Amino acid sequence: MKGLQAVILAGGFGTRLRPLTLHRPKPVVPLLNHPFLHYQLALLAAHEVRDVILSVSHLPETIRAVMGDGSALGVRLRYAVEDEPLGTAGGVRNAADLVEGRVVVLNGDVLTDLDLSRMLAAHEARRARATIYLTPVENPTAYGLVELDPEGRVRRFLEKPGWDEVTANTVNAGVYILERELLELVPKGRPYSMEREFFPDLLARGVPFFGHVDPAYWLDIGTTEKYLQAHRDLLEGRLRSPLRPRGRALGEGWVEPGTSIAESARLVGPVVLGAGCRVEAEARVGPAVVLGAGCVVGAGAHLEGAVLWESVSVGAGARLSGCLVARDCRIGAHARLTPGVVLGEGSVVTEHSRVAPGP
Ligand code: GDD
Ligand code: MG
Repeated sequence: MKGLQAVILAGGFGTRLRPLTLHRPKPVVPLLNHPFLHYQLALLAAHEVRDVILSVSHLPETIRAVMGDGSALGVRLRYAVEDEPLGTAGGVRNAADLVEGRVVVLNGDVLTDLDLSRMLAAHEARRARATIYLTPVENPTAYGLVELDPEGRVRRFLEKPGWDEVTANTVNAGVYILERELLELVPKGRPYSMEREFFPDLLARGVPFFGHVDPAYWLDIGTTEKYLQAHRDLLEGRLRSPLRPRGRALGEGWVEPGTSIAESARLVGPVVLGAGCRVEAEARVGPAVVLGAGCVVGAGAHLEGAVLWESVSVGAGARLSGCLVARDCRIGAHARLTPGVVLGEGSVVTEHSRVAPGP
C-alpha cells in the first residue's frame, strides 16, 4: 500500500468512556500501556502506510503531546485541528488539504488486525471509488448497519438502526478506502456526518461503493466494557498486533524496568507490569492484569482482570476484580472492587470499603 495516506478520526468526546476520558482523550487511552493510536499506526505501518493525518478536535494538545510527530513509530504524523467538531466526514474534509490521492480513513477507536492490503486489492479489483470494511456483530443497533447486494455493492447504510430495522448483521467497522475526489463532496467548514450524510449521498449518486466483509478481529473500544475486553483479547492473543508490550518477558508476563516483585508474591499470566511498580509480599497479580507505571500493590492484595493506569496504590489485602482504575487512585487496605467498577482519576477508596458498579 506504498504511497497511500491515512486519516484517523480522533476528534470525538469519548463520552461512553467517562470517567476515563475526562482528562485523557479516547484516542490515547492506554492499552497494555501503549497509547491506543499506536496500535492503529502499527497496523498502518505494517501495510506500508506511513503518512498519517490525525483529525482532532477535543483536547487536541493532549493528543499531540502524547503522539508527537510519529517518528517513534516510523510514521510521519500531522494534525488537522477543528475549532468546532465537524463530525466524522467534516473531520476528513478538514484534513483533505494534506491528502493527495487515495486515502484510507479509520475511526480512531477501532482495534483490528484487518489485512488492509487485501482490502485495497478488493477495492482495485472492483474498480470501486469507495470501499468500507464490514464486520459481523450480534447487536447492529449500536453501529452503522450496511446491506450489500449479491455483488458486494452497498445497497443501504443505516446508522444506529432500531431493532425493527435490522435486516443484516454486517456493520460499518470504521475503516474506509476513498478516492481523493470524493472528499470534494463534503461541504467545507461545517459539521457533516460520514454515516448519516456522506454515505447516503454516495448511494444517491450511484458512486461505485462496495463492502469488504472480513473475519478479522475487530472491536470498537468506545465503552468501558469494550475497553476492558480489548485488554483481555490482546493479553490472550485473540488478535495479532505488531505492537508488543514493553519490557522483558517474565514467566507469563511482561515487566518493565525498575519494577520489583516480592519473592512471596505471585504473578499469574498473562500480565503486563509497567515501569517502577512494586508488588509486595504474598500479593497475587493476574491473570489478565495490567499495571501502569509506578503502581504499588500492597501485601496480600489480589488483582484479577483489572487494568490500573499510572501511579495507583492498592492497599494490603485489597481485592480488585474486573475493574478499571484511572491514574493516581488510592485503594485502601482490604477494600473490594467488584467486576464492572470504573474509577476516575484521583479517586480515593477508604480501607474496607466495598465498591460495586452502578447500572
Ligand atoms: N475529527 C473528528 N471530528 N472526529 C470525530 C468527530 C468530530 O466531530 N466526532 C467523532 N469523531 C471520531 C471519534 O473520535 C471516533 O474515533 C470516530 O470518529 C467514530 O466516532 P464514535 O463516536 O466512536 O462513533 P460510533 O462508535 O458511535 O459509530 C461509528 O463507528 C462504528 C464502528 O465502531 C460509526 O462510524 C458507525 O457507523 C460504526 O459502525
Ligand atoms: Mg466508536
